[in-house]
Amino acid sequence: MSKVLIIGATSAIAIACAREWAKEGTAFFLVGRNARDLDDVRADLAARGATAQTHVLDFAATETYPAVFEQCFAALGRVDIALIAHGSLPDQKQCEADADIAMREFMLNAGSVIRLLTLLAARMEPQKSGAIAVLSSVAGDRGRPTNYLYGSAKAAVTTFCDGLRAQLFKSGIHVLTVKPGFVDTPMTRGLPIPGILLAQPRTVARDILAALKSRKGVLYTPFFWRPIMWIIRMIPDGVFKKLNL
Ligand SMILES: NC(=O)c1ccc[n+]([C@@H]2O[C@H](COP(=O)([O-])OP(=O)(O)OC[C@H]3O[C@@H](n4cnc5c(N)ncnc54)[C@H](OP(=O)(O)O)[C@@H]3O)[C@@H](O)[C@H]2O)c1
Repeated sequence: MSKVLIIGATSAIAIACAREWAKEGTAFFLVGRNARDLDDVRADLAARGATAQTHVLDFAATETYPAVFEQCFAALGRVDIALIAHGSLPDQKQCEADADIAMREFMLNAGSVIRLLTLLAARMEPQKSGAIAVLSSVAGDRGRPTNYLYGSAKAAVTTFCDGLRAQLFKSGIHVLTVKPGFVDTPMTRGLPIPGILLAQPRTVARDILAALKSRKGVLYTPFFWRPIMWIIRMIPDGVFKKLNL
């Protein structure tokens, strides 16, 4: 039976992944900020044949992070797959107007992920097996005027994961960086996104599971975001700064 840790377990993408893993009778340790929502996820997975324990985490209380892993490893014994999925899409204009909001959002989207990954890596390394999937974003590939606070946080996560992948490879642990484009989740609700560019969480989840199986390092999902982001990265700076992307 696989042992799966999910941080940000109430995320729509995380739930879609968990439902796929639940088909294999997985044992989950689910971490999130809202006890009632976590319990709904737990019940949903139990109805699909899995077992799950929950842990409520206040992501701002960084001193409580070690307890997450104490309890997770006490409950599961080992972690075969860890998925880090929490994140928020801040209002860029608010971040420009208030440096405290900007830093709070940066700390959630980058700082908390890096802190959790640092603690998790130390716990997983002695296992000499397992995989960690981290939800970054295509937004981290180039800073855009409409979301560069979020983009810079995801860039930090992506670069951290590049290094962590090379570091943990020596211990037999795989690190997957997931770069979704637009996904139809509460995070994007109400945004003016053309339907053709909006993927369903289930599609992204299946891509994540396949990428973990093939031990891919970086996943663009859906696949067409890889060439789109290549083009966006290639636009000369003199042109890019005149576009309102
Ligand atoms: N949707 C997209 O288009 C898209 C694209 C690229 C990357 N991503 C990334 O994919 C990951 C999952 O997002 P999603 O699309 O599945 O969105 P989602 O369904 O809105 O999930 C967001 C998750 O982050 C948690 N969260 C939000 N704000 C938080 C805060 N201040 N403190 C602690 N937890 C917080 C949410 O908890 P609650 O349930 O308690 O609110 C939820 O678990 C995120 O890292 C996101 O950046 C999403």
